[in-house]
Amino acid sequence: MRVLVTGAAGFIGSHVAEGLAGAGHEVVGIDDLSGGTRENIVGNVKFCKVDVRDAEATERVVKDHEPEVLCHLAANAREGASQFQPRDVCGRNLMGYASVLVPAIQAGVKKVVLYSSMAVYGDQEPPFDETMPREPVDVYAVNKVAMEEITEILADVHEFGYTIVRPHNVFGERQSLRDHYRNVVGIFMNRIMRGEPLFIYGDGEQKRAFSYIGDSLPALLRAAELRPELDGEIVNVGGKHPVSINELARMVAAEFEAEPELVYLPDRPREVKYAYCTWEKSEALLGYEERLGLEEGVRRMAEWARKLGPQPWTDERLELPSKKAPHIWLGNGSGGSDSRGEREQP
Ligand SMILES: NC(=O)c1ccc[n+]([C@@H]2O[C@H](COP(=O)([O-])OP(=O)(O)OC[C@H]3O[C@@H](n4cnc5c(N)ncnc54)[C@H](O)[C@@H]3O)[C@@H](O)[C@H]2O)c1
Repeated sequence: MRVLVTGAAGFIGSHVAEGLAGAGHEVVGIDDLSGGTRENIVGNVKFCKVDVRDAEATERVVKDHEPEVLCHLAANAREGASQFQPRDVCGRNLMGYASVLVPAIQAGVKKVVLYSSMAVYGDQEPPFDETMPREPVDVYAVNKVAMEEITEILADVHEFGYTIVRPHNVFGERQSLRDHYRNVVGIFMNRIMRGEPLFIYGDGEQKRAFSYIGDSLPALLRAAELRPELDGEIVNVGGKHPVSINELARMVAAEFEAEPELVYLPDRPREVKYAYCTWEKSEALLGYEERLGLEEGVRRMAEWARKLGPQPWTDERLELPSKKAPHIWLGNGSGGSDSRGEREQP
């Protein structure tokens, strides 16, 4: 079938595009390369550099390809920074999605797979299961909630199928190591390789169930199948075993045989302390299996990261720097070696 993958040069999107192309589908991938890289485009994927906020350019690609399935992953997924980048986050997430959906529906798309997020559950009591209400507590999650609801409404009115997946804390090869705003596993690895301390928000006892891409990918790919039992379903996809950020820091440091300094910072505004999901529905509907798990995933990602070597931090400023922003996100924007934990909060 013909598939359009947005965010195809990013971490998860590149694996999804490669996997679908490898299964024999005709895959076009689009990405503006703001977070992803061309090197991430692997296999028989036709790549177009397009910013999904550019309605005309997006429409041209969608109409040329006439996708039967749209896998939408393009995003600014910096959940923690979204309070300080609301314009960019709303533009790339909610507005970008509408910009792809309209021509896709016009071109007769049969199914939309929205890669949403566990963030939509907010700070309810975990484990989060798919029947819980949407209770977003940050700007990124508000966007994901709106995108989910728009999918449901438009699918009803314009009659296409859809599946919403809610991945959580996925990590692995091809994840950006340069972005100091998100993805703690990659940030820890890059800091260790650069000889920098590991910054931990609060007491480090917040818990997440990290999911290695090799475990999540088969389920994330199956979500794109045109199977009637997937239609209209919402499915969590991710790890089964919550660990604390302190445990994760120890595990990553041990993998690099390093003893980095741990620097504890104030809580990050709007960070949910305990966030992990049920997995029964993903097992039943998408055949989710945790075959490799966190430790093996960290080992494999570290092997890849070591080959890549230490990466420079992207220097991207916040739209709304404020005294509530972690101070390592302020200053020169690098969060790098000059942003030590002992510096005063501005
Ligand atoms: N990684 C996770 O743990 C996780 C968890 C939950 C949900 N998700 C969701 O999965 C999707 C992929 O996340 P990821 O971790 O691979 O992030 P990523 O940043 O690696 O990928 C997102 C891609 O979208 C691209 N992009 C951003 N704005 C764009 C625009 N305007 N036009 C075209 N492309 C644009 C970026 O360049 C990037 O390549 C996102 O929708 C994210 O919200 C990820």
